[in-house]
Amino acid sequence: MKNAVVTGGGSGIGQAIANRLRADGYNVAILDLTASDTEFSFVADVTDRAAIDEALTGIRAQLGPVSILVNAAGLDSFKKFQDVSFERWLRVIDVNLHGVFHCIQAVLPDMLEAGWGRIVNISSSSTHSGAPYMAPYVAAKSAVNGLTKTLALEYGPSGITVNAVPPGFIDTPMLRAAADKGFLGDIEQTIAATPVRRIGRPEDIAAACAFLISEEAGYITGQILGVNGGRNT
Ligand SMILES: NC(=O)c1ccc[n+]([C@@H]2O[C@H](COP(=O)([O-])OP(=O)(O)OC[C@H]3O[C@@H](n4cnc5c(N)ncnc54)[C@H](O)[C@@H]3O)[C@@H](O)[C@H]2O)c1
Repeated sequence: MKNAVVTGGGSGIGQAIANRLRADGYNVAILDLTASDTEFSFVADVTDRAAIDEALTGIRAQLGPVSILVNAAGLDSFKKFQDVSFERWLRVIDVNLHGVFHCIQAVLPDMLEAGWGRIVNISSSSTHSGAPYMAPYVAAKSAVNGLTKTLALEYGPSGITVNAVPPGFIDTPMLRAAADKGFLGDIEQTIAATPVRRIGRPEDIAAACAFLISEEAGYITGQILGVNGGRNT
């Protein structure tokens, strides 16, 4: 049975991905800031390499080597650019970009050893269009898309595919918190402007990840697969 790690697996999209992969027959370890009551829950901040390595030691001891990684941990941020402190800029980029760097580097040896691997990075549909007041977030997520394409080229010959799924407007605690603070405008208006006329569900993202992770997606790498109801912004 293949072993998967899902970062940010304690909430929203990451949780739905973990549930889906479990249902598809994978062993799933989740890595998040706090423990959840699922099996194989590990606590680590994705910006803390030592904590990630320690969690991976535990995951390998309990499950074995890891050949699937989904980077879903993320931190949003809304502020006019001129009001973004450098500390905030660094933290948002640390979580959304450097977290991906650390987690991929930490699991790569297992994938290289197996000659098989699947990496899916959850970026953001805001990378297509930009998003006002989200400068560090969009900058970091755009970098994740670029990193995805580059690693696909580097590791394709080793049997490892690397793809990104940029979600758009998915009903999660992150989105609800931003909406409650008035950062997202009128949700009903956004739904009306969405071609499929509904808000996204975490399971919509999980389905795309499950496909990209499957054996039959082995010829797909370096792709940015938008899951956004056709809104594309
Ligand atoms: N909801 C959307 O519409 C939407 C749109 C575009 C992109 N995304 C991206 O999808 C991913 C999941 O978002 P979500 O909406 O499910 O949010 P969420 O807040 O519900 O879940 C994010 C999870 O990441 C964890 N996390 C945050 N910082 C972490 C850190 N430093 N180390 C470890 N774990 C950390 C949180 O604890 C949480 O469990 C994020 O990367 C987010 O940027 C979401």
